[in-house]
Amino acid sequence: MSRAPENRFSPTDLERLTNDTFLREVDFHEELGSTNDRAMQLAGRADDYFPLLVLTESQSAGRGRGKNTWWSHDGSLTFSVMLATSRAQLPTERWPQVSLTVGLAVCEALESILARGVPIISHATLPAVQLKWPNDVYIEGRKICGVLIEAPPNCPGKLLIGIGINVNNSIGEAPEVVQASATALIDLTGRNDTLCDVLIEVLKRLDARLMPNDFWNDEVRAGWRKRCYLTGKRILIDNAARQSSGICQGIDDSGALLVEVDGHVEKHLAGTITLR
Ligand code: BTN
Repeated sequence: MSRAPENRFSPTDLERLTNDTFLREVDFHEELGSTNDRAMQLAGRADDYFPLLVLTESQSAGRGRGKNTWWSHDGSLTFSVMLATSRAQLPTERWPQVSLTVGLAVCEALESILARGVPIISHATLPAVQLKWPNDVYIEGRKICGVLIEAPPNCPGKLLIGIGINVNNSIGEAPEVVQASATALIDLTGRNDTLCDVLIEVLKRLDARLMPNDFWNDEVRAGWRKRCYLTGKRILIDNAARQSSGICQGIDDSGALLVEVDGHVEKHLAGTITLR
């Protein structure tokens, strides 16, 4: 398939990915089923192979959380970063916070991309980038990015962060079910962004936010609360064990979702949310 240059990764782009970011290795494929599945195959490599990026220009079998799939098309940004968590100092009890932190890093990257070329005086008019707990990124009530975090079963100490962002893949090309709930950068800005630039912006934010000394600090929690899409909304939370319906009160200091149900506040560590 012939792709526009901004939707391709040239040899120079691939070099930029290791030279300009925290990555040690890049595993690039023009086409792939799922970057998370490919990364799983590489999880057993020696620690000095990580952080590893698995990247493709065309993903045909993207997986999402639970039974979700991830729609990709020419211009989608789909990649997975695998960390050796002992090296990155991220003990397993902090992995739920990694999940929230990744969402925040993507928000910050998209805000910076949206602001490119826009005079500072007009920044207040830019669309708000928000977080739907635990880590979906929304703009104008529509999902623009999904994150799938997994732990490779036979490789303790490795954490896999899969990210899909709708960049130049206009949602007009998507199946109807996706069209009803998603958006893409191009649909918001009317311009094509270079996938490699967007990827590097996300990687830089991830690196900064996952730094051990600044991890899940006050600034991150405040950044999350400011962008929480669910706060004040009536939601249904479904976690395998039970369902609860109530008004979202934001997140607590640990990152758990707070939901007021019949006059008392429930604290949720996992679950799928729908708006009521
Ligand atoms: C979700 O919204 O449920 C999560 C979607 C995650 C999609 C990304 S695309 C890159 C990586 N590879 C996959 O197979 N899935 C993730």
